[in-house]
Amino acid sequence: MIAVKGLRFSYSRKSKQKGDAPTLKGLDFEVQSGEIFGFLGPSGSGKSTTQKLLTGILAGYDGSIVVKGRELSAWDNSYYREIGVGFEMPNHFPKLTALENLKLFAAFYDGNTLDPMTLLEQLGLAADANKQVGAFSKGMKMRLNFARAIMHRPGIVFLDEPTAGLDPMNARTMKQIIKTLKAQGCTVFLTTHNMLDAEELCDRIAFIVDGQLATIGNLAQMKRTFGEPSVVVEYRTGGESESLQKAAFGLQTLAEDADFQRILATAKLWSIHSQEASVEEIFFKATGTKLA
Ligand SMILES: Nc1ncnc2c1ncn2[C@@H]1O[C@H](COP(=O)(O)OP(=O)(O)OP(=O)(O)O)[C@@H](O)[C@H]1O
Ligand SMILES: [Mg+2]
Repeated sequence: MIAVKGLRFSYSRKSKQKGDAPTLKGLDFEVQSGEIFGFLGPSGSGKSTTQKLLTGILAGYDGSIVVKGRELSAWDNSYYREIGVGFEMPNHFPKLTALENLKLFAAFYDGNTLDPMTLLEQLGLAADANKQVGAFSKGMKMRLNFARAIMHRPGIVFLDEPTAGLDPMNARTMKQIIKTLKAQGCTVFLTTHNMLDAEELCDRIAFIVDGQLATIGNLAQMKRTFGEPSVVVEYRTGGESESLQKAAFGLQTLAEDADFQRILATAKLWSIHSQEASVEEIFFKATGTKLA
């Protein structure tokens, strides 16, 4: 659905001449039809820049971006019927109400748009439909922006940090709608630095660090490659009044672990939990960089 090859981008070509490193240093990845593809990386790594290039909001890149078999430069405005874009910093018409904003954007598309009021209801904005958007909170603007992104039933949706600024309940609603989009066959490019969102939603994840992709893959496979499951033991060596001690051991080497055996034999156990590697740990092992 999307094929990116050797994507390089520099915000200032002038500064590039001075020898400044470009923001994107040659990205290669493909997004398959119908998958949720996560783009995960620390702040400033180039996630939003990549999304802006893929959505045609930023121009002037080197390399190639092919969407639905056609190079981005060969697309005309019909590209915006194919894609929906959720921005990191949503901009709406502040003097118009939420409903008016959506109706205005619906008018850009020739028919077959989702009903604006139904969308607002789904996103918990029904009660605010007739309020001016200028008075909306960040989370409300994000939700309205999301409605705008999916209103014309695009086949590909780009979402930049879609749950940023949302309370847990609204984040859950948003994630549920993203899953529904996928169930309907929509391809989703999801930019995030929220590991939990990535883990819950994405079929595959690309890790980006400093304008370069460190690894791309299926999370379950990455867990096998990079993350050793561990066992965490809480125990006391003295009486009840002593505070709990905690130790972690690799699951695979548990049987030969002398420290673990000693605790089992001598300490009073409080709890034993096994846990798989978190996306944060996998990210660190795969990239050598902390996610946040
Ligand atoms: N308009 C701009 N002009 C110049 N440099 C920019 C501009 N926008 C972003 N940059 C720089 O490009 C780099 C990547 O920024 P980008 O916004 O793509 O990061 P990000 O991964 O989306 O980060 P975050 O998680 O904070 O949203 C950063 O060093 C940033 O300072
Ligand atoms: Mg960003």
